[in-house]
Amino acid sequence: LDNGLMKTPPMGWLAWERFRCDVDCEHDPKNCISENLFIDMADRLAEDGWKELGYVYVNIDDCWSSMDRDKEGRLQSDPKRFPGGIHKLARYVHDRGLKLGIYGDMGTHTCGGYPGTPLDKIKIDAQTFADWEVDMLKYDGCYSNVTEQEQGYPLMSEALNATGRPIGYSCSWPAYQGGLPPKVNYTQLGKICNLWRNYGDIQDSWDSVLNVIDWFFNNQEVLIPAAGPGRWNDPDMLLIGDFGLSMDQSRAQMALWAIMAAPLFMSNDLRTISSGARSILQNKMAITINQDPMGIQGRRIVKEKNGIEVFWRPLSSNASALVFFSRRKDMPFRYQTSLSKLNYTTGSYKAFDVFAEKTVMLKDSTDFVVSVNPSGVVMWYLSAPAKRHLRQFY
Ligand code: DGJ
Repeated sequence: LDNGLMKTPPMGWLAWERFRCDVDCEHDPKNCISENLFIDMADRLAEDGWKELGYVYVNIDDCWSSMDRDKEGRLQSDPKRFPGGIHKLARYVHDRGLKLGIYGDMGTHTCGGYPGTPLDKIKIDAQTFADWEVDMLKYDGCYSNVTEQEQGYPLMSEALNATGRPIGYSCSWPAYQGGLPPKVNYTQLGKICNLWRNYGDIQDSWDSVLNVIDWFFNNQEVLIPAAGPGRWNDPDMLLIGDFGLSMDQSRAQMALWAIMAAPLFMSNDLRTISSGARSILQNKMAITINQDPMGIQGRRIVKEKNGIEVFWRPLSSNASALVFFSRRKDMPFRYQTSLSKLNYTTGSYKAFDVFAEKTVMLKDSTDFVVSVNPSGVVMWYLSAPAKRHLRQFY
């Protein structure tokens, strides 16, 4: 969507995967969906080095609203859990240099049973979000049918635009249509949405991450051309820092989300996150790769060979990223290859190991070995040494 927003994949924090629809503030005050939760996360993003790296969105998901609209027919937040209201929360977030995202649903109800934003409510709700100075909307698709979605998703795009406030627009539409053409029209999505969920919900387990990875890379020929600056495929939230992933699996999610040019929305508890998980999420080179300005989504270039797969993403300034990923369950695997076998052109390269933070120089013809842990990755940022870079221009 050409609204000037999200020229690189959006980054931030989203409540759903970690905090779901916990509305029991009486018994679980620290974890329930309430303004306190978003204030806490905004504080952490602003104070713990996240914001500077690009993690600026603080995003509300389902279960934030009251069960009833107000007298004027507008959505309103739950008065007990959000006593200050969303506008005040947006100010709080903005004062810390962050942005606020909110959640709505195209149908009669949200998936959690809260009031939806069906066709006849789109204009008024878009205006309410803009009045509250919200910066992003995730528009879910429960309790709506195909015809309603066909009208509703473009209509919300227009309604947000008509408010005059720049609001990033995340569409869950394709996820409700199976994610593939001919049902899904990615050319149209790229025109009306900044990002879209293509596939089912991620859950806090490695199985779930693998399932998402498989779907996205098995369908890469359809998905890669859909992505670009201002329009991104969304394989769903980062689980890093939660309960389901080992450190190796966490690095694997970070690496593959970077290859996919995926939005980086963490769904974790930033108040208690371990230093290990934090350093993966705050890895500067992984973020640089994810945020590459060309915005070309990467691809799988070697499919399961001895349980190893290789992924590649072209980057600006003649650079590229490689990920060696192990599906094995036995022990670190010594994978031998060369850059020329991976289709690199003749020349010398500098390879920076993103997680080990070490550099090696190699020629396209050099055979090398990477040791890849079970369900782990080795990720490289490759650049051509300056000499070769210049020769292209002179
Ligand atoms: C389905 C979406 O895909 C999830 O990300 C989340 O927003 C839930 N609905 C909320 O009910």
